[in-house]
Order: sequence, then structure tokens, then C-alpha cells
Amino acid sequence: MSKKIEFLDLGQQPLANYYLNKSQKKKKERKYRLIVCFDNQNKLVSIKKTFSSKMMFNNKYPYRSSMSKTMQRSFKELAKHIKLKINPKKILEIGSNDGSFLKNFNKSMSVGIEPCANVEKITKKKKFNTIPKYWNTKLARDILKKYGYFDLIYSANTISHIKNLNDVFSSIDLVLSKTGIFIIEDPSLIECLKRNTYDQFYNEHIYVFSYLSLRNILKKYNLEIYKIENLDIHGGSNRYFIKRMKNKIKIEKSVIKQKRKEMKYGLNKKNTYYKFRKRVEESKKRLVSIFNYCKSKNKKIIGYGATAKSTTILNYCNINDQTIDYFIDTTKDKQNKYTPGTKIKIKKYKGGINKDVDYVFLGAWNFKKEIFKKEKKYIKRGGKFIIHTPLPRII
Ligand code: TYD
Repeated sequence: MSKKIEFLDLGQQPLANYYLNKSQKKKKERKYRLIVCFDNQNKLVSIKKTFSSKMMFNNKYPYRSSMSKTMQRSFKELAKHIKLKINPKKILEIGSNDGSFLKNFNKSMSVGIEPCANVEKITKKKKFNTIPKYWNTKLARDILKKYGYFDLIYSANTISHIKNLNDVFSSIDLVLSKTGIFIIEDPSLIECLKRNTYDQFYNEHIYVFSYLSLRNILKKYNLEIYKIENLDIHGGSNRYFIKRMKNKIKIEKSVIKQKRKEMKYGLNKKNTYYKFRKRVEESKKRLVSIFNYCKSKNKKIIGYGATAKSTTILNYCNINDQTIDYFIDTTKDKQNKYTPGTKIKIKKYKGGINKDVDYVFLGAWNFKKEIFKKEKKYIKRGGKFIIHTPLPRII
């Protein structure tokens, strides 16, 4: 019997990517209780309250995969690997965002699905085949009619955003060729637990997958994972290479290794999640005391990277514009707006950190390396960062 265990309560939260303009800032925001659950049967970790795709992914979606060099590099390397090892004739990307992955392929061989029309337009402008719709069975049938079967389907940071996983995978089953490969990439549950990155949980991340849970879901569609790559992007992600069970490709050692790692860590046991809850509560206490300490010394604190993830942290820890003066961010659609729930102003990144800043809260901690490289000047003059993972600290 499937039994969902509620193991973490992250309190009242607003929609994570719902940045507020001046007039919205004055109004009451829609909030929900962010509770995280573990399904004892299929081992899937999910959030309890979900919202419709339309509410979360629409023509106001601010995320751009092209905004980070790390992501661009990662897509480029994967594209190279795909061309060399898989050599597909036709590629489908689910959640193609602004085309950062697709741009590595020939326009005539690729199709991108992207329901957020504002980002989809960017790829279409570059003359790629893109469809501004949600991935589901109806769309799969339509594209099958128009384009035939695909021998490579790729989806990064998208499948975990779709509630109806049965529909997702049965639609994949419809359009994937007999020998086709399906690659998905999403934050890794074991890394989330190890790094105490509870901010991987917010309304868009309906699921945080592990190998163990994904394996159980894929089985129903006669699909199986034959290779896993552990990636450092987005705070620790897994790239799963999936094939049809009938396809004779060898299951690689990386799969066995991942399975062992997850079993050893206890991702199949509820107790592991209760322990995680304790660490999250401790993390909140530590982060709040760091902010209190900096404030008591009259230090100026700003935020760097107004991420969806940081919405969870700031709201859970009650950190608002009284503590953080403002955020800086390179994403145009976030600039001159306010962070959801906590109403901290987001300013345009103008190259560098102002001289009067003492501490920078790293909202985009997943791009720490890239940002530290960029902000050498700030670090050299003694500027400090506040980071919450694996333990809240000043660096
Ligand atoms: P992202 O990590 O994709 O997080 P989420 O999915 O949680 O929203 O977002 C990174 C944010 O950080 C994005 O708004 C852009 C910003 N950013 C900068 O401002 N400067 C940088 O150098 C980098 C890498 C990101």
C-alpha cells in the first residue's frame, strides 16, 4: 500500500517565481503551505500542494537557461556526446526554454516544446521548430503525426515540474522510436539531502527524483535507466539515460553505483527524511543567527541571484527587506521587481558589487564557482558571502 509520509513543513510560501511589481507589492499575496512528502511504496519525494501548470508556466516566466555560462557549457558538452555516441536523426526537447540546448543541433532535425510563450518566442525567432504547449498525450499524438518518431528525447529540469507523471511517460512511450534514447536531467535527491538544500522544494519542483523512485515509475512503461551521470549543476543533478527494456544496450556500472549509494544513504527509509527535517530546522536557526549577528554590527547585506530556491529560504526563515537591502540579478524580467513574500527589491546587475556592501547572501549558490570568479574584486577587498549549504556560514 502506498503511504505518503509528510516529513517536512516549510511553512507559508508564495509562488516561487512570482516576482512582484510595485502595485502587486502592496497587495496580499497568494500563499500556500509547503509540505514535503515521501511515498513509502514507490520511494518518490514530492510536495503536497500543487498548482496548475498554467499558474506557474505562462508567458511571464522569468527563467532563462542561457543566463549562466555553466548551463551553456553543460548543454554544449552533452550535445557533443549525443552526436558522437547516439547520433540521432531527430531530436525532441521537452522544456526547451530559450533554446540553449537546441542551438547545438541542426534546425531541421529538432523540435522544442516550451509552454512559456515569452521564452518559446526567443527560440522560434532563431528559426527553430518550437511549440508553445504543455507536454501531454494530446500533444504527443499531434507531433507524432507531424514529425514521426524521435530517436532522442531530452528534458532538463522539466519532468519534475509536471504533476501527472503517468501522462508524461506514456506520452514519451508514444513518440520514442524503438531504439530511441530518453535523457532526463533533474536535481538529485541524495545531493539535496546531503547538502541540506531544502530550497530545492518549492511549488515548481513537484518532485525531487532519486534513481530508486524514477526506476519504479519507468518500469510501468517498460523503460529503464542504463546510465547515470552525476552533475554539479543546479546544486547536484542527475542525468539519467533511459531506453526501452527491449533495447539491448548494456546497463552501465554507474546505475549499480547510484543504486548502492542511495540504498546506503537510506533513501528508501522514512527515518532518513525525519533526520533531514531535523537538519533543516537546525539550518534555519543558524542562518537566522548569522543574519542577526551581521545586523547587530550594522553591516550592509544584499542578495545575489534572486532564485526561485531562495524564495523558500527567505520565507521559511522570515528574512525580508529589513535584513537584506536589495538583490542583484542579471535576469531582465526580475529586475525592478520584488522577491515573492519577502518584498526585497531586485536591482539590475551592473557588473560588480557596490563598495558599501559588507555581506552578500548567495541566492544563486548553485553558481558559486561562476560568481566567485566574477566577483574577485569584492572578495579581494574583504567582502564576505553568506551561504546556507551544506551548513549556514560566512565565507
Ligand atoms: P537558478 O539557479 O536557475 O535558480 P532557480 O531555478 O532557483 O530560480 O537562477 C539563477 C539566478 O541567479 C537567475 O535569476 C540569474 C541569477 N544570476 C546572476 O544574477 N548572476 C550570475 O552570475 C548567475 C550565474 C546567476
